[in-house]
Amino acid sequence: MLKHTFKKGHTDRTLLLLHGTGGNEFDLLPLAEIVDKDANILGVRGNVLENGMPRFFRRLAEGVFDEKDLIVRTKELYTFIQEAAELYHFDAKKVVAIGYSNGANIAASLLFHYDQAVEAAILHHPMVPLRNKVVPIQHTRVFIAAGKNDPMCPPKEAEDLASMLEQAGADVTLYWEQNGHQLTRTEVEAAKYWL
Ligand code: MLT
Repeated sequence: MLKHTFKKGHTDRTLLLLHGTGGNEFDLLPLAEIVDKDANILGVRGNVLENGMPRFFRRLAEGVFDEKDLIVRTKELYTFIQEAAELYHFDAKKVVAIGYSNGANIAASLLFHYDQAVEAAILHHPMVPLRNKVVPIQHTRVFIAAGKNDPMCPPKEAEDLASMLEQAGADVTLYWEQNGHQLTRTEVEAAKYWL
């Protein structure tokens, strides 16, 4: 099983927390507190190391993904969610992914590969995980927060991702900050109200 932390909540919703490069399973706990403090929390640590920094999949260079590895790791994460649901007795159909940067990219990849991996997804500063991919038809709700001046995840990436998901049938909300790559309190608050 992937390294993780689980905290039981008071509702049947589970927040799946996916950190950015160099993070861990605890990084996004403060976000979960803001977004839905009553939900179960499943924080996961990516099991790929880049110079000692955990990630969810390998990359060949900044912004250039190892697509083969991405596909394998996406399947691994999908299987992990099912296993964790059995272990901790939560409803695998009521999972909301919250990802930042590399974590948002693997969450987007889940949406690109599985019709019902998550009920909804909050993607902070994502990129298009794979180009030229037929995205399975789905009605998943997706919130994308992006920075107009983000050099790591440029605006076009968020726009392309939004339109690819929309074309597949997802219900997408795109939220802009004027900032760069950093995660802001206001975008997390916006995600909370959206959810
Ligand atoms: C990625 O590799 O997923 C993106 O470049 C963002 C990041 O550095 O985490």
